[in-house]
Amino acid sequence: MTPDAETPAPQRDLLRFITCGSVDDGKSTLIGRLLHDLGAVPEDQLASILNADGQPDFSRLVDGLLAEREQGITIDVAYRYFSTETRSFIVADTPGHEQYTRNMATGASTADAAVILVDARKGMLTQTRRHAHILALMGVRRVILAVTKMDLTDWSAGTFDRIATEFDGYARQIGLEARAIPLSGATGENVVARGGADWFNGPTLIEALEKLPVVTTDPDQAFRLPVQGVVRPDQDLRAYTGLIASGTVRPGDAVRAVPSGVVSQVARLLAPEGDRDAAIAGQSVMLTLTDEIDLSRGDVLCAAADPLEAADQFEATVIWMDEAPLLPGRQYDLKLGARTVAASVTDIRHKVNVNSLEALAARTLELNDIGVCHLSLGGDVAFAPYETNRQLGGFILIDRISRTTVGAGMIRFALRRAHNIHRQSIRVDRARRAALKGQEPAVLWFTGLSGAGKSTIANLVEEQLAAEGRHTYLIDGDNLRHGLSRDLGFTDADRVENIRRAAEAARMMADAGLIVLVCLISPFRAERDMAREMMGDIRFLEVFVDAPLAVAEGRDVKGLYAKARRGELTNFTGIDSPYEAPPKPDVLIPAERMPPAEAARAVLQRLRQP
Ligand code: ADX
Repeated sequence: MTPDAETPAPQRDLLRFITCGSVDDGKSTLIGRLLHDLGAVPEDQLASILNADGQPDFSRLVDGLLAEREQGITIDVAYRYFSTETRSFIVADTPGHEQYTRNMATGASTADAAVILVDARKGMLTQTRRHAHILALMGVRRVILAVTKMDLTDWSAGTFDRIATEFDGYARQIGLEARAIPLSGATGENVVARGGADWFNGPTLIEALEKLPVVTTDPDQAFRLPVQGVVRPDQDLRAYTGLIASGTVRPGDAVRAVPSGVVSQVARLLAPEGDRDAAIAGQSVMLTLTDEIDLSRGDVLCAAADPLEAADQFEATVIWMDEAPLLPGRQYDLKLGARTVAASVTDIRHKVNVNSLEALAARTLELNDIGVCHLSLGGDVAFAPYETNRQLGGFILIDRISRTTVGAGMIRFALRRAHNIHRQSIRVDRARRAALKGQEPAVLWFTGLSGAGKSTIANLVEEQLAAEGRHTYLIDGDNLRHGLSRDLGFTDADRVENIRRAAEAARMMADAGLIVLVCLISPFRAERDMAREMMGDIRFLEVFVDAPLAVAEGRDVKGLYAKARRGELTNFTGIDSPYEAPPKPDVLIPAERMPPAEAARAVLQRLRQP
């Protein structure tokens, strides 16, 4: 593309990099030293970092940020700005503990390059490999390996060579370009000033940082604007805001909204100082269209002739960042750009052993695991593979109850079935089927410990409904596990899948016009909430048969509690597997005090209320 007068000038040379290392690798000391030796630290601050011996402790320059971070969970990544004569830098500093993979991934998503620290005395650790792997997955291809604390090895060339060679071998396998530097944050050699190793004739850390290329998106890529907001700058104007993910936009350009597919034209590019002629990738814009089309937050405006794909099923690489493992079948919120949709993992294809790079079979992903997964979303989203665009291909997964970020993902491609399986319209609908039966379909979901009395109560309810001429069906956990769920056991992941299947079956039966009673321990709040959501406008009543563990265990009709106590049965609910009580059930049955007949009456009464 030939630059013309209308194309805005590219931004000043700015390199964003991230530092990663394990605890005690001297990350703070190295960054503090870098800032100090570049003269980026004011005199008065220098006095405050002297230790008891009157020596400067450079880690204290950055520890202020660490303290903030520990007080409030909001600051997971600290950004610092500094510059040299040739270039400006933003460094993202992230804590090094294992559980902070989350922060590392956050910092890496916008970084051009990374500095990985390795303590010369310890050499490469599993965490070093994990960090390198995450960087590669997140599109950070250029890495500087800072072999720190070299002064403590008497600047041993052998030690440095061994670490540099080992790292280089690993980096090549995962597609990273690495360069190693022997240095010391504490004494300062090879950070800004050269020194220490007379056998080393490579660049210092700052020289290497000055030479790293900034990652740029190809200016020839088609225009894509994920819509962040819809605003009304004045009465008759509706404008859309967002950060351009790729390409260039000008007034008059034909655009298409994805996923809706509606086409329009750009009318104006609004800016505080007057209308603009053009805007490019990386810039924030506010634009208006010639038509009032239905376009909302989360949609993507694309070049009309070359729009993004939209799909609701993907293969993606997922980095899991939560103490609680990823459970296939569980619903999470997936946030991609400005769009949030429900999503669940339908299949873990494999996980990666970061040391051997082997693909391993897995049923869940644990904290810090990296896996390739299939995901199914609640609706279509516009996307690009992460490899071609980080902004349009990267997402995070959020736990729906705690609202914390539990995973980060990179879309590889849409699954073909997402395009090829369409919903078939059906002529006879639920209303007609229900009218034939003369009843309103409903789902009564009984939850509680094994032995709480769910089945006994549900049976009484169903008998009464049948006596009144109602059409019903009872889905019982024990029976389900002899058929539809015969392949499932009692791990958390298997329970999630069991509940999903039961809920799908219940939905179909209610859609057929039936009043469905479901009896499942269903120990997790997330899946009971999911069952309720799945029913849409079908009536759903959660019945909590609340028996204290001692009472359920005292009954022990099937002798399972005794077995579990003897250790002959594992993952038993209430013993070594959790039960999350519903905070707000539609019907609460205090099983200890209420006989089954009375409980059944309470359920029926609730069902009859509108
Ligand atoms: S759920 O957790 O997936 O909802 P479900 O209701 O289907 O459980 O199955 C529970 C029944 O399986 C119990 O009533 C009990 O008879 C039997 N069972 C066997 N092993 C276990 C176990 N480890 N935990 C709970 N129930 C078990």
